[in-house]
Amino acid sequence: MWGGRFEQEPNRAFYEFERSFGFDKRLLPLELSLDRAWSRALECCGILSTAEGQQIRAALDQIEKRTNAEPDWLANSSAEDVHHFVESALIDLLGPLGQKLHSGRSRNEMVVTEFRMFVKEGATELRRAVCALIGATIGLAEKYFGCPMPGMTHMQAAQPILLSHFLMAHGEAFFHDLDRIEFARNTSDACPLGTGALGGCAFPVDRAALAKDLGFARLTRNSLDSVGRRDFALDYLFAMTVLAGHLSRLAEDMILFASPGFGFVILPDEYSTGSSLMPQKKNPDAWELIRGKSGRVAGALVSLVITLKGLPSSYQRDLQEDKEPLFDAHDQTLAMTKIAAGAIAATKFNQSKLRESIQDEGLVATEAADYLVRKGVPFRQAHETVGRLVHDSEREGSRFSGWPLEKLKGYSSAIDSDFAGALTIDVSLSRRNVIGGTAPTAVRNALDDAKERLALAEKKN
Ligand code: ARG
Repeated sequence: MWGGRFEQEPNRAFYEFERSFGFDKRLLPLELSLDRAWSRALECCGILSTAEGQQIRAALDQIEKRTNAEPDWLANSSAEDVHHFVESALIDLLGPLGQKLHSGRSRNEMVVTEFRMFVKEGATELRRAVCALIGATIGLAEKYFGCPMPGMTHMQAAQPILLSHFLMAHGEAFFHDLDRIEFARNTSDACPLGTGALGGCAFPVDRAALAKDLGFARLTRNSLDSVGRRDFALDYLFAMTVLAGHLSRLAEDMILFASPGFGFVILPDEYSTGSSLMPQKKNPDAWELIRGKSGRVAGALVSLVITLKGLPSSYQRDLQEDKEPLFDAHDQTLAMTKIAAGAIAATKFNQSKLRESIQDEGLVATEAADYLVRKGVPFRQAHETVGRLVHDSEREGSRFSGWPLEKLKGYSSAIDSDFAGALTIDVSLSRRNVIGGTAPTAVRNALDDAKERLALAEKKN
């Protein structure tokens, strides 16, 4: 491919060290599309005749068929990279004509073009999976609509919320992930082809036609920038890192809520494993692996950030290190998202455990303070009064809402006979009827709104 100015063959160990075919062979379908588009571009500017262009494309079809029919051909190849693999195969088939296809182009632009195409396709695939996950989350939230649970901050019971509200908090995060993935798909959607090794193609290829041929929305604007730029890959890695973080948080919630201390979640058999030693065990391995893999995805982002840091402008061979982390992050994030969607759809909740867990009167303490506020007591005083009620009732071991009115009046003269009635879970829930709140009406609206937004997002896939 480049041996003319060399006297010696590459050192064997070095050749193995520098080869990228082991991992960039997955770009092969994109490489073939690019080669076809390039042959048409060379025809348009007179470097290839129409007949030559056709012969080259027929040979590319043949190569494609053979790679599908003979996986060993790829496995046993000693090609340096995917570009070398196809070019060598083309030359084997066509001789000197095969040697014409590389006119005016460089692997520097080819690799980044194919990498951009990979991110565009990958992002589309991942968006579909995230949509399915959101759909499963909405489905579960609808199934358990109306069931309350203890809402927590600092992992301490805080206020009652609807289980559906909790589930849709996760759903909401995944909606934001869709936007970030979409952003990465857009930043990748510019075609570098025609930029040559660094300075632009010396033949008058029609860059706009090439971009259109390969399904790109735009062209890159500077040839030097085109071959050295990888921030579209960072955008995708960042989107995946945030999504993986959200998946990890969902996983942690599920693991915790399935533990005996809570017992809210009934783990689906089909997404759990047993212990080889302890017969009673059912372990949340699907969620644990999702939580675990999120670190690996974040690692891929860091890996590319560090690879890019300190590089000069233009193409440098360091950039070959961009692909493995991104391929791995994509594969893992896609798998995590699909497994999470399946596990969510199969998860059940122990509703009586959830109801039991909100019996603690502390959960309606805010409600008691708000009761006093509605009777005109300044909030800070109301907070102090209810704090004393909670403190004393804990010491006495009885619920303050059941105390006689005279005793309650000793804490605040604003307390009336309607006090206990104002402190039920249902009242607490239904009061929080702002947009985005946990009142049943608000959650119903949020679910309907989420379904509409999901339908719109699915249309964009
Ligand atoms: N395998 C290389 C990569 O992934 C392709 C470009 C190589 N270009 C070069 N001049 N060595 O970046």
